[in-house]
Amino acid sequence: MLKIGNVKLDTPVLQASLSGYSDRAMRTMARRFGCQLTFSGVMLDKSVCYKPFLQKVCNKIRDEEHPIGGQLLGTEVKTMAQAAGNLYEAGYDIVDLNFACPAPKVLRRGRGGAMLGNPRQIIEIFRAVRNAVKCPVMMKLRIGVDDSEGAREDFLRICSDAAAEGVDALIVHGRTTNQYFKGKADWNVVTELKKQYPQLIILGSGDLFEAQDIVSKLKTSGVDGAAIARGAIGKPWIFRQIKELLEGHLPVEKIYQPDIKEQGQIILEHFSLLTELYEPRKCVWYFRKFLSHYGRSHSEPGKVRRELVTAKDEAALIDAIKKWYGV
Ligand SMILES: Cc1cc2nc3c(=O)[nH]c(=O)nc-3n(C[C@H](O)[C@H](O)[C@H](O)COP(=O)(O)O)c2cc1C
Repeated sequence: MLKIGNVKLDTPVLQASLSGYSDRAMRTMARRFGCQLTFSGVMLDKSVCYKPFLQKVCNKIRDEEHPIGGQLLGTEVKTMAQAAGNLYEAGYDIVDLNFACPAPKVLRRGRGGAMLGNPRQIIEIFRAVRNAVKCPVMMKLRIGVDDSEGAREDFLRICSDAAAEGVDALIVHGRTTNQYFKGKADWNVVTELKKQYPQLIILGSGDLFEAQDIVSKLKTSGVDGAAIARGAIGKPWIFRQIKELLEGHLPVEKIYQPDIKEQGQIILEHFSLLTELYEPRKCVWYFRKFLSHYGRSHSEPGKVRRELVTAKDEAALIDAIKKWYGV
């Protein structure tokens, strides 16, 4: 249903890059609910060129994690190409180039979303990366640095050059860099882009929170797929819901919705995966940001979230999950 180079997905959705979230535990949960392609959080090109980082972070992909995409942030052609080669050697199946991140510390160094003002440099990086790897190369873009006409022209030029150079896919987040996460993602721009470049694989991103809405956006925009980001935090089952809706055999009210007990089992499973990655104390505080999202699907979200995110240690957390979810 969706092809990104040699990577084929039956359902046209992927787990987006999410710094600070999309570690192996979150990716495994997404896969467990049918997501066939997941991405690491963004990595700085210079770090990926540093051997100890490469060994510690990148060289640990397990067989069952494929296909997996690795995402890079940087501004220099050579370093980006070398980093991409390292990701490929480490086993990543797709290299994604981040020209979208709006974080102030990233923009200050001219990286991420700031690069959208420099179409020529983006394409040079793309060419060098393409030559450095034998796997699909894609790009993550926002729809411009800001909402000025010049910024829109730069964005369209990047898309047209990338299409001409044979980019394997674009993920387009329908906000400008300056917009950060404010306002609504503009899916009209994404829709128009797909109309203009029907041959180009375009995945939409932005405000994808509910399966039904995601499926409707896929249909109305005509894009090839969608990158699920915040909508998958604390709701990994969203991938199964999207799949079921796209298959069209079930009415919305019959699609998979884990009951409270199942939600508890899912939370425990996610936590257990984290304990393989981090030491026990870190697991408890790191998991809080997920718990706050998981709690939203409970019938008593306020109370549940308060108790789960204030659990002091692993034993207290597990007790609280068991109490509220009946597992
Ligand atoms: C906490 C957080 C971390 C993110 N990290 C990355 C990242 O590492 N790379 C990236 O391309 N986008 C990153 N994004 C952007 C998302 O992938 C996505 O494009 C954006 O959140 C819009 O989709 P949504 O509104 O459906 O969440 C991040 C977003 C959030 C909220």
